Parts: sequence; C-alpha cells; structure tokens
Amino acid sequence: MNTVFNHILPVDDAGYYGKFGGAYIPEILYRSVDRLKEAFYRYATDDEFNREYRDLLRDYVGRPSPLYRADRLSSHYDTNIYLKREDLNHTGAHKINNAIGSVLLAKRMGKTRIIAETGAGQHGVATATVCALMNLDCTVYMGATDIERQQPNVQRMKMLGAKVEPVHSGNKTLKDATNEAIRDWCCHPDSFYVIGSTVGPHPYPEMVAYFQSVISEEIKKQLLQHIGKEDPDYVIACIGGGSNAAGAFYHFIDNPAVKLIAAEAAGKGVDTDMTAATMYAGSEGIIHGSKTMVMQTPDGQIIEPYSVSAGLDYPGVGPLHAFLATSGRSEVIPVTDDEALAAAFRLTRTEGIIPALESAHALGVLDKKQFDKDDIVVINLSGRGDKDMHTYMSLMTGNQYNLEN
Ligand SMILES: Cc1ncc(COP(=O)(O)O)c(C=O)c1O
Repeated sequence: MNTVFNHILPVDDAGYYGKFGGAYIPEILYRSVDRLKEAFYRYATDDEFNREYRDLLRDYVGRPSPLYRADRLSSHYDTNIYLKREDLNHTGAHKINNAIGSVLLAKRMGKTRIIAETGAGQHGVATATVCALMNLDCTVYMGATDIERQQPNVQRMKMLGAKVEPVHSGNKTLKDATNEAIRDWCCHPDSFYVIGSTVGPHPYPEMVAYFQSVISEEIKKQLLQHIGKEDPDYVIACIGGGSNAAGAFYHFIDNPAVKLIAAEAAGKGVDTDMTAATMYAGSEGIIHGSKTMVMQTPDGQIIEPYSVSAGLDYPGVGPLHAFLATSGRSEVIPVTDDEALAAAFRLTRTEGIIPALESAHALGVLDKKQFDKDDIVVINLSGRGDKDMHTYMSLMTGNQYNLEN
C-alpha cells in the first residue's frame, strides 16, 4: 500500500532547502533524475520495499547500532557523552545504510549497472558490498590521492568484485571522483548512480538523508532507555557532504531544544589555503548539481580543498546543511587535522575505540566547546579507524601524541 511521502526535512517540491538545493543538471540526465524522483517517493512509502530495507539493516548490517555511554570520556570532559556506534555496522561506517536503500531502489527500477564515487572508500566499499549481495555490476570512481591513503578499502572493493577507476584530475580526491562518476552517468544514463552523501541534484540530498534517518530514529529510542527521555541537548556529527550528520539530525531538526553541531574539516586552518571548511571559506555557488556553499574563486572556479581525512576533503556541502547553518539551526565548528588527530588518540586511549579520521573531527568539538555537567551530548561515531591505520601509525612513529605514556 502506498501513502504520500512525509517530508520531514524543510524541502520544497523542487528540492530547495531555503535558497539551497535544486537540480542543476545537463539535459541528458533530465529523464534519469525524473524517474529516480518518481521511484524514490513511490518506494519510500511502499511497505514491501521498507520491509526488505529494514530486514537487511537488522540482519545484514547489524542494526540497531548501539548508543554507548562513554564513561571515561564523559568524566574527562565533565559532561555526559553518548556515542552512536555507526562504526560497528557491517563494512565499518554509516555509508551502508544509504547503499542498501539506494541499491534496493535501483533493483526495483530494473537497473543492472551501478556507478558510485568514493573519497575515504567507505561508500565505495558499502556500494560494492551491496552490489555483490544483489549481483549487480559495480564501478567506483576514486581519486588517485585517496587510492593511496585508503588502500585497505581499495583492496576490499576489488575483492568484492567492483571495478575501481582511478581519477587523476584536480587534486585527485572526492570532488574529482564525483566529476568522473557524473561523466559516466551522462554517457550511461540508464545506469544507477548511487551518491554517497547528501549532495547532488534533487532528490539525492533528501533520499540519502532518508536512508540515513534510521540513525536519529534509533538515538531517540535508545536515549529513552538510557535516560528516560528521547531528546539530547546536543547532537554532534562531522560533515563532508553531510550524510551521517543528516541522519543523526533528521528527527531532531524540528525541535530547537536539541542543538545541532556540524564539525567541518579545517585542514591546516580555516584561514590557510589548505582547508575543506566549506561553510567558513565558501560562498553560494553550484557544485555537482545543486546550489549550496562552495569553496570557489570570485569568478566561480572551484578551489581545491585539503583535509587529512579523505571523506571530508570536499569543496562543497549538502544543501540541507548550507540551509541549517545559514538559518542558525545548526552551528558549524571547524576542526583542524591536528585537533582531529588528538581527539582520535584520546578516544582510543580512554574508551578503546579507534575512530575513522572523519569521525575524529566530530570528537574534536569536545575540545572546542564547553558543555555543562548535566548536558546530554550525542556524538555520531560515523566509522571505524581501520582504514586510517596507515596515517595513525605514521604519527605514532613521530610520537606527536606522546603515546609512550
Ligand atoms: C566514516 C566516515 N564518516 C564521515 C564521512 C563523511 O561523509 P558524510 O558527510 O556524507 O557523512 C565519510 C566519508 O567517506 C566516512 O567514511
């Protein structure tokens, strides 16, 4: 039985969040995007589709992911910190939530070939995993810089049977991989493009947020069990394109009592030319099919971003987050490479959890903002750090974080 799709996000029919969003696409993709929109709104309200999606989240991904009270971290910061453990999902990050929903949709639409882009490799691994499960052809575009720094994930994608296409344009990172994936899609409009974040033309930002919204749905239920109420004082998540943050914020957006904090990658600092802090260093522009905040020169050329974290090394941000931040609903806090790395080592040594470099940016907020003793602070731990061991180990050798103690 189909009902009307319930827009929880502040989005209009044309896909605008305030002045951000829309669908800025070449004519060749009009039909594909229209069909996607139609299919998404139809299947998102289809009981059978949702049953299959939810069953896979439970039995294949291992959801619900735990909401863990981090006692030692809480006493270090003298507040109450809960970690939403997306790192414990099958394949190691939140990306699998969207990959399952999107690939199921592709199957319903009769697609046989999947295209994806990836930065940190988590979305590529998640998509390759679901394609193996559902027996679909899978091509993943990945920048050469990211291929080098996220080797374990490249090997996993290959073992799963995906074709990994290296991209050598620009600074060979996520933006460049996305350009190539869109180019492939223009040449093969019948392929299904699984975008890994809340970016791209409408309906992608809303669709990806919807498939990630299970995160905040679970947080509410789990907090009720932990503390007897559904709503925390703060939800903190890192933002690259913004999918884990969108999922963690989704069911709290309409409750202003829940403060939303997005941690963006400052790289070497927001005032340097080595940053990926889009909300600080960017201005209104168009990137990858939507109007949003973009790091660009005054004449509209994209500025190459930089972050130690491949998943946050992107010069744009999803239109939902551009809207939430400019309207004052969310607070954006830039976290540098060094601050994120220090936070990663702190979590590892206090809680025995090695976070993904991306998630470490969310943890970095703890050193930059004062929380009250009674505050309930939920941090979305978007992924695990296995893929980043190479980067972490190179720092341990330098003993920058005093690890002999
Ligand atoms: C573990 C992890 N967290 C966060 C991100 C950033 O993406 P998003 O902002 O879409 O959540 C990535 C991207 O690859 C990731 O792998």
